Amino acid sequence: MLLLCGGQSGEHAVSLMSARSVLTALPAERFEVTPLVIDQAGRWLGDADTARVLGGGPMDSAGETVSSSIQPHQVVGYDVVFPLLHGPHGEDGTVQGLLTLSGAAFVGSGVLGSAASMDKVMTKQVLASVGVPQVNYRLLTRRAWQGQPDAAQAQADALGYPLFVKPANMGSSVGISRVTAPDELHSALTLAFSLDRRVILEAGAGGKPRELEVGVLGNDSPIASPVGELRFDALFYDYETKYTEGLATMHIPAPLSAGVAERVRELALRAYAALDCAGLARIDFFYVEETGELYLNEVNTMPGFTATSMYPKLWEAAGLSYSELVTRLIELAQEER
Ligand SMILES: Nc1ncnc2c1ncn2[C@@H]1O[C@H](COP(=O)(O)OP(=O)(O)O)[C@@H](O)[C@H]1O
Ligand SMILES: [Mg+2]
Repeated sequence: MLLLCGGQSGEHAVSLMSARSVLTALPAERFEVTPLVIDQAGRWLGDADTARVLGGGPMDSAGETVSSSIQPHQVVGYDVVFPLLHGPHGEDGTVQGLLTLSGAAFVGSGVLGSAASMDKVMTKQVLASVGVPQVNYRLLTRRAWQGQPDAAQAQADALGYPLFVKPANMGSSVGISRVTAPDELHSALTLAFSLDRRVILEAGAGGKPRELEVGVLGNDSPIASPVGELRFDALFYDYETKYTEGLATMHIPAPLSAGVAERVRELALRAYAALDCAGLARIDFFYVEETGELYLNEVNTMPGFTATSMYPKLWEAAGLSYSELVTRLIELAQEER
């Protein structure tokens, strides 16, 4: 098996941490695993550089010299590939397209499921067609915004405040702003458009919603895990809160009525099928307890995957250990569909 990790996105370091966990957990007698680090400049590193980066050596950076790198299309001869990559150029269908062309079986969603789930607007459009509840939103393109900046203001006013401004294709809360008044919109849009040509404006879900997450596992007959919850003090789950030890806590199972938990799981499975996901996904929700409203927020086709990340923890609560989970994902990658 080839384990692809690192990658060009802002989630490079997260991916490396997940890869170290997978390498430790895989039963050596069953799998021969070759890791391959993609650095932030997009170079596919050779064995020595990969080992240095995974060994926790100096963080690779775009400028660093590497002794060897290979062309992506030279990756041939593996029975299965685990693209443990997050965000653009990893989780968005690009690498999945390359792997499809190479003929290798791979873990996770294919081109369609990856691309449709990566783009927050496309996800919403698909999910609206199957009746999944979501917050109100508007799509803006960079060109439209530059041509008619006042139109953006009107769209934001129509959604109301607070609202969230996000690049459509990112992760880890990078480029996301919580906008509480009209005069904060311009800088939020400037930031989001510096990262993507598609930007989504979203109405805030309640004052501060509860944040629920559920794991889905399988191909065309997937199953849903227990529901988990993230709690934190910050106004929203921003980058710092996500990656600073101790700022957020995970609660599994989330304290919810059986009815709400069942509804989350049903909506997650409906979304998974509609988006043509495969292998795995972590599906995130907002729950406004005061009103009982539940909104699907986003679908992550390659969620954080360290041994202490939400997705593996959700399955552990369902009785599947981390190494059993990885083994199951590899089996699903090789399953006839
Ligand atoms: N519409 C919304 N209402 C309330 N909070 C939101 C909304 N959109 C985003 N947030 C907050 O911002 C965080 C990151 O947004 P999200 O869409 O999940 O981006 P990412 O893909 O970077 O994780 C969420 O976990 C939540 O705390
Ligand atoms: Mg999120």
